[in-house]
Order: sequence, then C-alpha cells, then structure tokens
Amino acid sequence: MLDLIKSRKSVRKYSDKHIPDEDLRKILEAGRLAPSWMNVQSWKFILVKSQENKDLLSELSVGQAHVKNADALIVCVADKNAWEETKITHIKNPALNPALQGENGILIRTLEQLIYPIAYMMLEAESLNVKSCIIGALGNEITGVLPDVYTKAKQKLGLNENQIISTIITLGYEAEHTETTKTRKEFDEVVFLEKIGSKF
Ligand SMILES: Cc1cc2nc3c(=O)[nH]c(=O)nc-3n(C[C@H](O)[C@H](O)[C@H](O)COP(=O)(O)O)c2cc1C
Repeated sequence: MLDLIKSRKSVRKYSDKHIPDEDLRKILEAGRLAPSWMNVQSWKFILVKSQENKDLLSELSVGQAHVKNADALIVCVADKNAWEETKITHIKNPALNPALQGENGILIRTLEQLIYPIAYMMLEAESLNVKSCIIGALGNEITGVLPDVYTKAKQKLGLNENQIISTIITLGYEAEHTETTKTRKEFDEVVFLEKIGSKF
C-alpha cells in the first residue's frame, strides 16, 4: 500500500483510451465501502461520462481543462439529508451526534465524511493504473462562486437543496508518463511523539 501511495500523483493530461466499466465500478465500490460517522454514509457518487456534463463541470471548476478532458468524472456529493435518515435521534449528546451540532457542524461533518471515500477511490484507481486528480476548486455553497453554473449543474445532476457538490475526481489514463516527484514536508516537520517538537 505504501508503494502505491508513494507512486501516486495527480495527473491532469489524459490519453483517449477509455476506462472499462468494470474498473469504474471497482473504483466506485471502493468509495461505497469507506467508513463514516455512525455509518451515516452521507454521500452520493455520480459517474459522469458524457461530454456535455464534463463541459458543464469544467465550467463549474473555474474552467479547469482536465475536467473536460478526463475520460470520466466522479462527482462527490455531500448529502446532509443522511443524518436525518440515520436513526440516531435517541443520542442526545452533540459530541456523539453530528445532527445536534448545528447547521455549521452538520455541514462540516458531512463534508468530512467524503474525505474517506475520495481517498479510497483515488487509491483503487491508482491500483488499476487509472490516474486521477481531485478537484476542489469549484463553485458551490462553500465557495459561493459561479452561482448560476452551480444551480444549473445541480439541476442537471438531479441534486436537491441539501446535497452539495463538494469535490470532483477526474479519471483517465496518463497521456505520457512522467516521473512522480513528491514535494512534501519532511517526516519530522509533521510527525511528533507525544507532543509537538518531540521526534518519533
Ligand atoms: C481537497 C483537494 C482539492 C484539490 N483541488 C484541485 C483542483 O481544483 N485542481 C487541481 O488541478 N488539483 C487539485 N488538487 C490536487 C493538489 O494540487 C495535489 O494533490 C497536490 O498539489 C499534491 O500533488 P500530488 O497529488 O501530485 O501528490 C486538490 C487536492 C485536494 C486534496
């Protein structure tokens, strides 16, 4: 697993080769199986293959070309409805029940749950040699940019007012191979033993 993580990189230039449905299904299945708070599974994943929807989502992503040039997209939707649908109303302590953490808390918790399936899908894709890029720069309720495009995209994708387009994953085969260079903070800059400043 660590070798896969080390070799993965964001890829933004794709070849014309199509990803088989079988592999797309495996990638989506990895997302479906991700863990979540009290198993709330507050997510929807919309597979997009049509050029029309890719173009619209590229526009929503402030014109990022790799969104329209990818072979397929996974639109990751944060679904605030899920907290109500999950039978956790008997839990009265807000620390244990995000549904009691207020509007802002619910928003943060719902977005938080999506991180895990996104990571799972990205790594499953990598294991199938399907390259990806996470797209967070887009118009939605959080950024407040491109409100008209966002409304159109939500309508087109069949989303309701409690469902937020949080993230898009672009998928495709690499147009030309480039070496992976990881620019990351050093281990001792981010990892500590017992307290900040103490090395592991
Ligand atoms: C939450 C999130 C949002 C991101 N949004 C974008 C984006 O909108 N466009 C883009 O090209 N890359 C985006 N990225 C990719 C990062 O730029 C990339 O992961 C980072 O520079 C590290 O490079 P690497 O993935 O090749 O290791 C995003 C990554 C994350 C985790």
